[in-house]
Amino acid sequence: MKPVSGGIDFGTSNSTAGLAAPDGPRLVALEGDNLTIPSAVFFNFEDDRTYFGRRAIADYTAGSEGRLLRALKSVLGTSLIREKTRIKAHQMAFTDIIGGFVSFLKQRLDEEAGQDVENIVLGRPVHFVDDDAAADAQAQSELAAAARSRGFRNIAFQFEPIAAALDYERNVQREELAFIVDMGGGTSDFSIVRVSPRRRAAADRRDDILANAGVHVGGTDFDRLLSMRKVMPELGYGTETKDGKRNLPAAYFFDLATWQRINLLYTSRAMNELRQVRYEAARPDLVERMIEIVRQRQGHALAGKVEAAKIALTDLPRAGIDLDMVEKGLSVDVTVADLAGAIETAVRRVTDTIAATLTGAGVTADRIDTVFLTGGSTAVPVVRQRVLSLFPSARLVEGDLFGSVGTGLTIDAGRKFG
Ligand SMILES: Nc1ncnc2c1ncn2[C@@H]1O[C@H](COP(=O)(O)OP(=O)(O)OP(=O)(O)O)[C@@H](O)[C@H]1O
Ligand SMILES: [Mg+2]
Repeated sequence: MKPVSGGIDFGTSNSTAGLAAPDGPRLVALEGDNLTIPSAVFFNFEDDRTYFGRRAIADYTAGSEGRLLRALKSVLGTSLIREKTRIKAHQMAFTDIIGGFVSFLKQRLDEEAGQDVENIVLGRPVHFVDDDAAADAQAQSELAAAARSRGFRNIAFQFEPIAAALDYERNVQREELAFIVDMGGGTSDFSIVRVSPRRRAAADRRDDILANAGVHVGGTDFDRLLSMRKVMPELGYGTETKDGKRNLPAAYFFDLATWQRINLLYTSRAMNELRQVRYEAARPDLVERMIEIVRQRQGHALAGKVEAAKIALTDLPRAGIDLDMVEKGLSVDVTVADLAGAIETAVRRVTDTIAATLTGAGVTADRIDTVFLTGGSTAVPVVRQRVLSLFPSARLVEGDLFGSVGTGLTIDAGRKFG
């Protein structure tokens, strides 16, 4: 049997996987008929099984006892990767948790291919970690190790925005200069690529790639920033100690607002520290709400409500975040302006990176024919406006926001492994 190669887009928020077939790339269904799966793992303590994706989130939301993990990709290359998470009586390394998720994806590929898929192209952001080449290389080797330990033998990497460009290139009619924007949950990545119907068959495209750049800013940062601005103050963030000498320590609120750090609060030590914070607080009633969320393990549920409000603001002028979990009837109103204000600095880092991408390539914005958008965070209206305002004369093409990168990685797998 001819070996079949695959592509995996292990995303901060969502993942896809595809097979390179003779008639073109094909994403495989990962959960029911869905071609995408949330990058979520739930260790269910009640039945001692591990669940992935929507099912993982649903089990956690339904109140099953266990541990939910999200935004695992943001742990790669950071000191968190060496931490262990307590799963009932034993400690589990993050590399093994990521390995379990990769293994789930491999199983789906193997089932669809009817064989053991050994050749894989894994997507990677241009930078897993900003401004630290060693940590960045470490992140890639951690992901490669996870893939190798789960049965992939031949592992190649491709930049996520280049993969998006390969997907876009399938449909271009003539040669053009494209600026690829891929803004996901964890990172914003950019490439400037000469796409062309004639050149797409060429094996070596190095001459056509004018620039790659990226920054560790994405939708999970927007969630955190919105939470810190609008929700955490309701739990005591920004209030003073009762002696009026200082503000309460921000770190606990930061952890609760950051997807991949929430579980750090679920230890008896953190709980003792929070009680101490409450004791010293001028507003112990607010800190009590924080303690209640941690005690009930509602951190991911809260982050999910903040994310849902952010997404609602894509189509509506205002949205509500209900905090029923701490107090019946308590809720926070958020407006489009609140979101824009909360993420302002993060968005500026994104637009600065775009400007630097152009400068680095020696290309002015007016030479860009097309801006290709993919990734869920390109849906945020203020982000989209700000990005597009940098390219007043370019045509806008919107890709499959959640599938372009996976499809492109699969195209790349077909080319790299034949
Ligand atoms: N309609 C929407 N409006 C605003 N944000 C959205 C919308 N839909 C999804 N998002 C956000 O997009 C992000 C997920 O996008 P995507 O699935 O492209 O990321 P990813 O590929 O998992 O992450 P990365 O590529 O950074 O590793 C999440 O932060 C999500 O909240
Ligand atoms: Mg992505």
